[in-house]
Amino acid sequence: MSLSLSADRPTVPDEADNGVWLECIECGETYAPFEAVRYTCDECDGLLEVRYADLPTFDDFEGHGVWRYAPALPLEEGVTIQEGATPLYEVPRLEESVGVEALRIKHEGMNPTGSFKDRGMTVGTAVAKELGVGRLACASTGNTSAALAAYGTRGGMETLVLLPAGKVAAGKVAQASLHGARILEVDGNFDACLDIVQDLASRGEVYLLNSLNPFRLEGQKTIGLEILEAFQADYDAFPDRIVLPVGNAGNTSALYKAFRELVQAGALEPEEVPKLTGVQAEGAAPMVEAIENDADEVRRWDDVETRATAIRIGNPVNAPKALPGIRETGGTAISVSDEEITDAQRDLAREGIGVEPASAASVAGLRKLRAEGIVDDDERVACLTTGHLLKDPDAAAAAGGDPEPVPADTDGVLAHLEE
Ligand code: F0G
Repeated sequence: MSLSLSADRPTVPDEADNGVWLECIECGETYAPFEAVRYTCDECDGLLEVRYADLPTFDDFEGHGVWRYAPALPLEEGVTIQEGATPLYEVPRLEESVGVEALRIKHEGMNPTGSFKDRGMTVGTAVAKELGVGRLACASTGNTSAALAAYGTRGGMETLVLLPAGKVAAGKVAQASLHGARILEVDGNFDACLDIVQDLASRGEVYLLNSLNPFRLEGQKTIGLEILEAFQADYDAFPDRIVLPVGNAGNTSALYKAFRELVQAGALEPEEVPKLTGVQAEGAAPMVEAIENDADEVRRWDDVETRATAIRIGNPVNAPKALPGIRETGGTAISVSDEEITDAQRDLAREGIGVEPASAASVAGLRKLRAEGIVDDDERVACLTTGHLLKDPDAAAAAGGDPEPVPADTDGVLAHLEE
């Protein structure tokens, strides 16, 4: 198993460009990083990862945001809208009610387009420019399309997004639209959209910027690096566990890669690596099924449904990278109901933190794992909230209270308040 927490350094292949290359996680085939467009291995169709001859330690990072971590990224700079450096909120009441030693919320909704996708796009769109491709595309449950549209246009490129018709939250479609993406509404679910966009990419029609693209996950590693640095500063220790919502399992893969690289660099001991803990909605939980069954592969779910539309995904394409991440770090995966998700969304809202439903899955999952005794009361935990409340205004309004109609005069308002 190549994706383990080992301190072994890789041999640098001839294809490396400035110490950077692509490697297949299945067969080990290596490729030059920026010479040709490639998303999977030519030999075995396995997933590719970006590899580095030199890996940085914490001392090598300087500056602010995603590009603070340039020494851990394939390029020196990206197409930037000042992404990253998101808050790691304290939530004292929630911490107490969940019952852990420390709980912090890494709110990725505070990125420029309101989700963690910006971290991947700042790198992915810069690589697209380096490769000289014309049209960028993605399949999306919404957030990827918003980020692609914004970063694509900022980088001066055309963007095309394929969305499952009727299943994308209003804020996300609005973003993709205003930032100038061409939006195709597909009569099918996200997985069908991804099948089509992969076909378009393999026919050379578009450059694919879903998380199958190994460069995007490089940017998303910075979530893990920020959490580790902030915990070190606040607690003089790394978190015991990071809990995150899972769709395509891109973040799970990216965080695991960040930790593996720190271990290789000698900046983190294998036993210090936080337990990666994934949460899915009950109606779309193929990763949880694979973890529970100790399976090597994830079974594709053809019918998926959840209020958390961002993670309404039945075929998590990054599973081969993410399953070892959950297992090797001693983590786990759990599914939660839509009601538990909405309750967690309200819990976060009461702390002043506004998130979309998928994001609240992390907190719902932590609560459930704590209740089941799988998470201990002495753990220090970071929950990732992946997208902003305003992404899905309809879900927020449904979870909140209703406006009350009143007459347009003060006495009438007072009378109503006293009722
Ligand atoms: N949370 C939110 C808010 C998301 O938008 C997504 C994925 C995830 C969690 C899951 O992350 O795929 O890394 O496991 N959204 C994609 C999209 C699929 O198209 O916006 P993952």
